[in-house]
Amino acid sequence: SAIKEPKNEPLLSYAPGSPEKAALKKKLRELQQGEIEIPLIIGGKEVKTGMMGECIIPHKKNHVLARYHMAGEKEIRMAIEAAKNAQDEWEKMPWEHRASVFLKAAELLSGPWRSTLNGATMLGQSKTAHQAEIDSACELADFLRFNAYYLAQIIEEQPNSSQDSWNRLQYRPLEGFVFAITPFNFTAIGGNLPTAPALIGNTVLWKPASTAVYSNYFVMKLLQEAGLPDGVINFVPGSGSKLGNIVLTDENLAGIHFTGSTQVFGDIWRTVAENLRQYKAYPRIVGETGGKNFVFAHHSADVDALVTALIRGAYEYQGQKCSAASRAYVPQSIWPKVKERLLDEVSSIKVGDAENFTNFMSAVIDEKSLRNIDTYFTYTKASAEAEILHGGEVDDEEGFFVKPTVIVTTDPRFKTMEEEIFGPVLTIFVYPDNQFEKTIELCNETSPYGLTGAIFARDRKVISDLEKQLNHAASNFYINDKPTGAVVGQQPFGGSRASGTNDKAGSKLNLYRWINPRTIKENL
Ligand code: NAD
Ligand code: ALA
Repeated sequence: SAIKEPKNEPLLSYAPGSPEKAALKKKLRELQQGEIEIPLIIGGKEVKTGMMGECIIPHKKNHVLARYHMAGEKEIRMAIEAAKNAQDEWEKMPWEHRASVFLKAAELLSGPWRSTLNGATMLGQSKTAHQAEIDSACELADFLRFNAYYLAQIIEEQPNSSQDSWNRLQYRPLEGFVFAITPFNFTAIGGNLPTAPALIGNTVLWKPASTAVYSNYFVMKLLQEAGLPDGVINFVPGSGSKLGNIVLTDENLAGIHFTGSTQVFGDIWRTVAENLRQYKAYPRIVGETGGKNFVFAHHSADVDALVTALIRGAYEYQGQKCSAASRAYVPQSIWPKVKERLLDEVSSIKVGDAENFTNFMSAVIDEKSLRNIDTYFTYTKASAEAEILHGGEVDDEEGFFVKPTVIVTTDPRFKTMEEEIFGPVLTIFVYPDNQFEKTIELCNETSPYGLTGAIFARDRKVISDLEKQLNHAASNFYINDKPTGAVVGQQPFGGSRASGTNDKAGSKLNLYRWINPRTIKENL
């Protein structure tokens, strides 16, 4: 292949006294020194609208990091025009030159830009240093490098044949622009969703989540510094529903690259269906959405490994990973041991400012999220079928803090076993050991999602059976490990059922979705 298989970006430890820790602390101070103004970036130019939104620090809610300009209809039309104008040259550019822009961005990110992106993610989205590092440094660099590597493979495999005639399959980008709509919870997803289609030769409108505009703006600046030509990716923050309605009804919409909630993805499909007749081509729709991810334990499980997976899976980044462990099935025979260790661990979790390197958890993203999580606590407290063993409290005095919470229920279909809460809340159903088979069925059927899931067992036959029986319950399936932390190039990520179209971000499968192939037959 023209590009060698990349190595995953090494994870820095931020250990006391390390140079990376010193650099990050300095950057965190700098970033908090004054508000910045964030413009739209359309056709490579800064555009200001005067319609302003605020980027705050979720764990210090009164601290404003930035004010950003929001796009309106006029700017969206400008961005569509800019994408259209940039397409021809970008598409015709040799693929190596397109790939080179993103490879360069990965190099800058692993070097001089690392502390900026990590610092912005820690402040804007309340990630701890470790959670920022695995996201805005490592995963983003991996997306950029692995996508370029997969593109090189795809280019090489373009099939030709010459029986009777000369037949060539050309890989072209889509006809029109791609709309990348990104979530708040991973800066890396913010960077991947616009760049993957762009790598193929598409031009893009990128609408970041309003609660991630701060870090996502720095990603856009990084791409510009890496040499991204004007108009290839147009950065247009603003209201999702308002901008959505304009962009999703444009005749040149050729693709949607979405990550976010199942509900918004449903709204997007509906809008596209209602406008189907006006598009020049059927838009490609790629979306990764919500999850209600399980941890299923057999009595042969290693209890220590199980508890570590529950703690890390449920509470890292405050449970705001689409992959977070949020429902668990534990057999009665090992429950007393699991309970004792789990409560011991959860009560020692430190929650506070993301900049404090000793905290394991920080704040949830915003007030709306905190209030939503709290409704589940109120519901659980009033219920006879469930008990809160730990947590169940929120504190919004300084920031949006939610205590790590453990609920145990006697009802395997209890509300918190079924619905995505998107906070640090784990619900456990303790099953009688003799109802193992029935509980597997419950696990498979309880939620509409199919994103991640983990099983814990030492008995090989049980592992093999569970893998088969939970076939569609999780499209990222883990054996004796937590259900979070997929690594690009190693465990391609994406869910099925209500969790998305499962096009596996950062894989060849995803890149194919941005290709519009043409077959040419030539008689010789
Ligand atoms: P969200 O659905 O609220 O927002 C996602 C994006 O959609 C934002 O940019 C938002 O502004 C935009 N949006 C909102 N309404 C819109 C509309 N009508 N038209 C077009 N765009 C619109 O999600 P979020 O709160 O940012 O992220 C959390 C959700 O994302 C969770 O459900 C989580 O499970 C999911 N998620 C999934 C994956 C995955 O890979 N499966 C990864 C990360 C997050
Ligand atoms: N890729 C992220 C994880 O696996 C969502 O946790």
